[in-house]
Amino acid sequence: MTVTPTPDPAVLRAAMVASLREQDLLHSERVADALATVPRHAFAPRESDLAKVYDTHTTLEPVLFADGSQSSVVSATHIQAIQLEMADVQPGMRVLEIGSGGYNAALIAEVVGPTGAVTTVDIDAGVVERARACLTATGYDRVNVVLADAQYGVPEYAPYDRIIVTVGAADVPQAWLEQLTDTGRIVVPLRFSGITRMIAFDRTGQTLTADNYRLGGFVPMQGDGASAEQLVPITADLGLYVDPQYDVDFDVPALRAALSSAPVDLWAGTPFDMPDELAMFQLTNGGSGMVMLHAAQKAVDEGVVEPAVRHGIPVLVQGGNFAYRIKRESEKFASGYEAGVRAHGPQAQQVGEQMLALVRDWGTDHFRRGAARIVYYPAGTDVTGLAGWRSVKRHGILAISWS
Ligand SMILES: C[S@@+](CC[C@H](N)C(=O)[O-])C[C@H]1O[C@@H](n2cnc3c(N)ncnc32)[C@H](O)[C@@H]1O
Repeated sequence: MTVTPTPDPAVLRAAMVASLREQDLLHSERVADALATVPRHAFAPRESDLAKVYDTHTTLEPVLFADGSQSSVVSATHIQAIQLEMADVQPGMRVLEIGSGGYNAALIAEVVGPTGAVTTVDIDAGVVERARACLTATGYDRVNVVLADAQYGVPEYAPYDRIIVTVGAADVPQAWLEQLTDTGRIVVPLRFSGITRMIAFDRTGQTLTADNYRLGGFVPMQGDGASAEQLVPITADLGLYVDPQYDVDFDVPALRAALSSAPVDLWAGTPFDMPDELAMFQLTNGGSGMVMLHAAQKAVDEGVVEPAVRHGIPVLVQGGNFAYRIKRESEKFASGYEAGVRAHGPQAQQVGEQMLALVRDWGTDHFRRGAARIVYYPAGTDVTGLAGWRSVKRHGILAISWS
């Protein structure tokens, strides 16, 4: 009989760190050391396959209980590494983690060391209980584990040098700013215009500014800060996600009819790459008709829309016409693809050209990572003279401009 040896978790951790380095996600030894030290398997809600637990892209799924509650999700380490690096946590800092699983709080505790302080908060009593038990069992009982709606922060352990948000937020609540030190940083997966970007905001007075952002989705925040995003169905398999700031009436029957009309394809003569950057550019430069189009797999399989729509893509909607970006193989560009636009509807050419102008503008003038500057102004700030896109949220004004 062959006996498969149980893998040594320390060996798997070392391999995980090596893999994160290969993916260019680790830049500080402190974060690497924390990942090599904390026993991730001791926080796994139900995954017993150690190779999966230490795989950099595996999210550890929760256990569902009979009463409908569930244990916490533990995010994949590639996301945690990105967040920890963006947060630039230093020894001795006071850190608030929003959304608990236990594991990430233990990583932060390793980075801040014995002179720092870590607080983790979750809205779910089961998550809090389990995170506390796991942290105690692994020797990280110095982490404060709090049951609360993080919309209001955790004032009892404030101020914080860093606030690391591990749940999708629709806004930056006032309480987070109030509980942040004067030179503090908030790393938050912020939802705007139907997309989420992980943003590292630094504080200057009452304003937060960032030029460090990247793709990064999380489950949406519950409680008083839950998002009011609306879905406008076009068919059973296709719908528009609309930012609550836009009060737009869509001509759904006309859009449905446009779907079955022959499309017009237009080509930009610019490269296609970094679709997340292009999407953010389109959404923040396309006006109120630029929303997100989502499709079920069925609509893709039936050829109604291009495969990229499955994961959500910006779409310019005007009356009964709509246009979204497409790509085709091209040897002219290093990425191997040229960007283009597919348009449907009676004025497909016109709406398509409008979208094409945006795609070209990005491909010509902003074709790189990090070209956006993101500022979050306090509510009531007079921003009328400022250039760029703005979204008026409940607690402040999100502004995005492009260089
Ligand atoms: C992705 S999980 C957190 C993962 C965790 N940070 C880890 O160690 O990997 C997101 C958590 O956010 C929590 N959450 C959602 N809305 C919240 C809110 N308003 N306040 C506090 N926690 C919230 C959920 O209950 C869930 O446990």
